[in-house]
Amino acid sequence: MSLMNVTPAPASMSTPFPMQSLPGVPVLGVLPELQKNPLRVMERATLEHSPVVRLPLPLVEGFIISDPKLVEHVLVGNSRNYVKQTRGYEMLRKVLGNGLVTSEGEFWKRQRRIAQPAFHRERMLAFGEMMTTATTDMVNGWQPGKPFDVANEFMRVTLRLVGETLLSSDVTSSASEVGQAITVALEHLIHRTLHPFGFPEWVPTPRNRSFQKALSQLDRVVLGMIASRRDGSGPKNDLLAMLMEARDPETGEGMSDEQLRDEVMTIFLAGHETTANALAWTMVLLGKSPQVEQRLVKELTDVLGGRVPTMSDVPKLTYTAMVLKESMRLYPPVWSLARRVVETEVIDGVTLPKDAIVFICSYALHRHPDFWKDPEAFDPERFAADAPQPVKGAYLPFSMGQRKCIGDTFAMVEATLVLATVLQRMHLSLVPGQQFTPEPVITLRPLGGVQVVASKR
Ligand code: HEM
Repeated sequence: MSLMNVTPAPASMSTPFPMQSLPGVPVLGVLPELQKNPLRVMERATLEHSPVVRLPLPLVEGFIISDPKLVEHVLVGNSRNYVKQTRGYEMLRKVLGNGLVTSEGEFWKRQRRIAQPAFHRERMLAFGEMMTTATTDMVNGWQPGKPFDVANEFMRVTLRLVGETLLSSDVTSSASEVGQAITVALEHLIHRTLHPFGFPEWVPTPRNRSFQKALSQLDRVVLGMIASRRDGSGPKNDLLAMLMEARDPETGEGMSDEQLRDEVMTIFLAGHETTANALAWTMVLLGKSPQVEQRLVKELTDVLGGRVPTMSDVPKLTYTAMVLKESMRLYPPVWSLARRVVETEVIDGVTLPKDAIVFICSYALHRHPDFWKDPEAFDPERFAADAPQPVKGAYLPFSMGQRKCIGDTFAMVEATLVLATVLQRMHLSLVPGQQFTPEPVITLRPLGGVQVVASKR
């Protein structure tokens, strides 16, 4: 439990809401505004109303919390009382099924235990060379002077890498198909989350039909990976092997194809989209901050002296890691989290009623002036070893507590090696006139991509 004053609510409590409520229209509340710009609504609510504000919504009670202690309470201190039974996760289950991100309880715990060894540091050692080779192949494909979308390039390289490292599968030939299918699926999910009164998936509207098509494309790729390993000829120590070999301690049975599909789809999606977006935003920020880029390139020269980086260089690339952390502060790839309250709790005088949905907007917490000095500035020094630690609960790129990202180390290593391999050889300038609007489609993407021109260093 956290050190907060927590009292279970009396059974008879009629839920008074001692806190402010965002203004909204009758019946629909703030839903129309959320549909237009969810990021802006969440950001305003977090920045202007502390520690908690009610979000008037149809069908559910919503609250946005912005007090880091409260955030820690929900995600760590009493996380058992805050579950993933929310509309957003229900939508996500349409693509990910019941995999590590979406499952809960004892089942989730077992699956996490099975998957965890695939992410141990020692396992990671084998991945370094795959990461730099894939990045070198990507850079070799760039034509100096010719504009291209580097966000799309990062999607492709991270997709290739999650396939090669954790699933030992070559997905490069289907990268474009997969990329498009993922975009269609994620856009559909956020649309459905924000439009609860739309047609259900079985009604063959054009939107639903493209979603179903995207889902079948993704299924084909994922089921193909599983099928090609069923004869047992593949590697024995990657994540897919661990999942396939796991046996239920009571029944002795292995995972069904359906469960394997859900876990693989989850890793496939969670394991590349997020890192690709972190890298894309990093390029945007570096493109606008030549001094930071210069310092980063100096570190690469000092540490690597022109060599391709290896795993053992990663701990030495400290400024590169600081840049990535600061980039994920300003543009956290997972920009918000949501949980449903199991039992009413009164925390430091704030009542969170049973079945209410609690939203935590990492994007806004990361820009809150109470917790960050000059919050809009891109300043990697915040994450220097001798700088004060960020306020606990106010920096959540990978979330915290038992549902924290399983791939956080993998992602940091991958992003560091990709960034170092690219910037050591190339300078990327942003094509002028771009807005770089954050588009919150489950993950936070730069709307329309990031057009750059590469030149050799
Ligand atoms: C910069 C990159 C990444 C970011 C910002 C990120 C962020 C997050 C966040 C915030 C969560 C919690 C989500 C929630 O509460 O619903 C999460 C969970 C998860 N992430 Fe990541 N992630 C990244 C990379 C990865 C990678 C590379 C993998 C796998 C290869 C991965 C796999 C997962 C899984 C399986 C979960 C669910 C964990 C659980 O509940 O047990 N992520 N991630």
